[in-house]
Amino acid sequence: MTDTILVVDDDLGIQKQLKWSLTDYNVVFADDHTSAIAQLRRFEPKVVTLDLGLPPDPANASEGLRILHDIIALAPRTKVIVVTGNSDKQNALKAIDFGAYDFYQKPIDSDTIKLLVHRALNLSKLEHENSILSRTRSGMSRIVGNSEAIQKVVRRAEKIANTDISTLLLGESGTGKEVFARSIHEHSPRKDKPFVAINCASIPENLLESELFGYEKGAFTGANKTTIGKIETAQGGTLFLDEIGDMPIGLQAKMLRFLQERVIERVGGRNEIPVDIRVICATHRDLQSMVSQETFREDLYYRVGEMPIMIPPLRERDQDIILLARTFLNIYREEFKAKAKSFSETAVNAMLAHKWPGNIREMQNKLKSAVIMAEGTVIQPDDLGLMPVDAHDEPETLNLREVREIAESRAIRRAYQKADKNMSKTAELLGVTRPTLYSLIDKYHMEDIKSSD
Ligand SMILES: Nc1ncnc2c1ncn2[C@@H]1O[C@H](COP(=O)(O)OP(=O)(O)OP(=O)(O)O)[C@@H](O)[C@H]1O
Ligand SMILES: [Mg+2]
Repeated sequence: MTDTILVVDDDLGIQKQLKWSLTDYNVVFADDHTSAIAQLRRFEPKVVTLDLGLPPDPANASEGLRILHDIIALAPRTKVIVVTGNSDKQNALKAIDFGAYDFYQKPIDSDTIKLLVHRALNLSKLEHENSILSRTRSGMSRIVGNSEAIQKVVRRAEKIANTDISTLLLGESGTGKEVFARSIHEHSPRKDKPFVAINCASIPENLLESELFGYEKGAFTGANKTTIGKIETAQGGTLFLDEIGDMPIGLQAKMLRFLQERVIERVGGRNEIPVDIRVICATHRDLQSMVSQETFREDLYYRVGEMPIMIPPLRERDQDIILLARTFLNIYREEFKAKAKSFSETAVNAMLAHKWPGNIREMQNKLKSAVIMAEGTVIQPDDLGLMPVDAHDEPETLNLREVREIAESRAIRRAYQKADKNMSKTAELLGVTRPTLYSLIDKYHMEDIKSSD
């Protein structure tokens, strides 16, 4: 497809000349503000050449600058090359200042203008590709979360995804360990191969070995045909060992051998079967203390935990609480064709104050029932099964000064959480300056509130 270049000029001679110079492109014309904007809307040109001296005021650049301003406002990525008379450098610089890409002085030299347009077009294409890349790169689209805390984890996971390093996902129940495991697989070179998950805690100890490693016919009573295990099923892909902390100590040595030597033997078999698998483990247990209690092998711990990733609990990422709540509200509203559309302010505060011991899974459950339960379009704390914050036992206060102190320190804390511990943002949310914020923190002895920026 030929790229379209818009030429804005009232001089027919110049229009013709540009058309001859720019034969590689589809050149369209405009000669005043109205037609320029109309052509911009119609053709969405990546590059525009714009004569600054246009009627009604050709001696002055005012009309040209006005068009430039409107082009940039409507289509900020457009590369505008302004064309000026040879004594009009001042206005050319002004135009650059307004966001023009470059300027060019008359008389027009065919080769120069060709080169300028070509470069502008290349840059525009590069910028376009970059913006698409950065959109897909912040990828891991299953993971909803804007907080710095979760974004850090996403960045780490993205880096790890390209390698074959054994990853250990740590975090409380419901924080998204499995979601991360799948995302890592999907962002890895193995993405077209299987992702096989097995939960070590949910399979009885005596079955786990054959479930993982498979078995040969006749290996034990009932083994009437050779069966491959989960590990072999994952050949070429990713094996997700969930709740690795619950792996029976008796099986840990065999696991270690698989991880170190990348070969397995089926139960009752004597052949070594080579496997090419990426392993991701997860646990909500404290493996380190299990190692010191000798319920988890130290060598296996170092093997699976080459690259640990700690997923923070939901209560430590206030920003995500509201984002996730809105996301789930939209999902369940569709699913149940429900009326609920938004949260009352008390509901928002109740969600922010809640500790979310069950993390995102708890959030999903609460939202599902809230969407079903809500009477009107606005979800109340009660629908979520939460206490409105203000109904919590409020200690009797001494006087108005104390009421103010309590309210202020609570507001500061909330803003601080919302701003992801960034002081400038906290101050902004509270509508005070940074120094005022610091003096309030001092005054109320809120030593735990520290700058992270
Ligand atoms: N960042 C996230 N964005 C959207 N949904 C999420 C996110 N994290 C988790 N979820 C959802 O929350 C639920 C719990 O996540 P997941 O099963 O991955 O947690 P887990 O850490 O493996 O929990 P458990 O330890 O209980 O097995 C899932 O339904 C998952 O889809
Ligand atoms: Mg899980």
